[in-house]
Amino acid sequence: MWFEVIIIGGGAAGLFCAAEAGKRGRSVAVIEHSEKVGKKILISGGGRCNFTNIQTNSNNFISQNRHFCKSALARYTPQDFVKLVEKHSIEYYEKKLGQLFCLDTSRRIVQMLEDECLQANVKIRTNCEVKSVRKIENGFQLETTDGTFEGQNLVIATGGLSFPKAGATGFGLNLARQFGLKIVEPRPSLVPLIFAELKGFDSLAGISHEVKTDFAGESFRENILFTHRGVSGPAILQISNYWRPDEAVEFNLLPDENARELLLDNRRSRQELVNFLSQRLPARFAEKFCAEFAPSKPLNQLSNAEIERLTLLLNNWQVKFHQTEGWHKAEVMLGGVSTDELSSKTMAAKRVKGLYFIGEVMDVTGWLGGYNFQWAWASAFAAAQAV
Ligand code: FDA
Repeated sequence: MWFEVIIIGGGAAGLFCAAEAGKRGRSVAVIEHSEKVGKKILISGGGRCNFTNIQTNSNNFISQNRHFCKSALARYTPQDFVKLVEKHSIEYYEKKLGQLFCLDTSRRIVQMLEDECLQANVKIRTNCEVKSVRKIENGFQLETTDGTFEGQNLVIATGGLSFPKAGATGFGLNLARQFGLKIVEPRPSLVPLIFAELKGFDSLAGISHEVKTDFAGESFRENILFTHRGVSGPAILQISNYWRPDEAVEFNLLPDENARELLLDNRRSRQELVNFLSQRLPARFAEKFCAEFAPSKPLNQLSNAEIERLTLLLNNWQVKFHQTEGWHKAEVMLGGVSTDELSSKTMAAKRVKGLYFIGEVMDVTGWLGGYNFQWAWASAFAAAQAV
């Protein structure tokens, strides 16, 4: 079977690229190894798919080349995707910070992409495994469990390594290696972190608290959520994009208050420290905090040194983590096919004619909050205009 465009991976980027290339009159096939397309879209955003972020800009992305994403993001914007969503009468709402979610379920987004593909005459093959890819004179030849496919252009949209149960594989990275393209070492991200030193905090699992986290100059003000082995929650997932093992993450546990002033203002009070902290932190966390770092006593008995130490702990708590919860819990992959190898205008490999990489498989990773889907749409659109 001969196609002008073969896309491997029927996820967010693959389906969108297929529909857009099909609309340009290209004959397009999508090869998906799972039994259905769009599995990650279905589970995304807690089942409501945070499909874009209207505040998207290049600062929301991590890549060895932080300028790479600019061109594609400018040519396909969140507003463009919103227009498509509206055309399909999908209701949505802004949850917070520009994050747009479906009012109904994520299935609506998958259905929309499938409908767009259908209208553009795209052929979708599910349950189809690619066994080998070979460069031929005017394109690529693929041996699959559904026979031989030949195509002038080959678009790799197989996503990252996170969430293997939703169909993730290392196919895209292996194919890049096969063609001698550089890879930026992949690692799990948007992922909970595991404490390096703190012990006994598992009793706090399920407790959340709004903090400001800081790491390497990046700062996020959101909730943390204690888990059995460390912490999760949006503030941690965001920081995980920047975190490096065994370097401390800073937590401001009282982001609106200066702990020193607060304690000094209450210096005459006979209130117990633990009760005072319980008014500002979840009670069980306040108890653990005192048991671990500052035995509770009446506020009027705190020495200057104790006030200084408490100030540091409350406004600049330094916590080390030694690893993440790994690929099974990560929402995305950091790293991937190096942007040095790709054109930022078309996502085409500079050294292999007709080969393209789009979406999460490449070294562009977004923050939590709809940015990764916006990258999937924008990079897919760029490739679709070029194939
Ligand atoms: P995607 O993973 O969507 O698609 C890759 C496709 O390739 C899959 O269908 C896969 O089965 C297929 N494939 C893999 N190997 C193959 C092979 N060898 N042969 C054929 N097919 C193959 N982002 C966001 O912006 N908002 C959100 O709300 C969320 N929520 C979220 C929740 C959870 C639990 C996860 C795990 C992830 C998110 N994300 C997210 C991230 C988002 O899902 C992700 O960044 C995009 O789906 C990436 O789109 P891609 O098309 O690149 O990969």
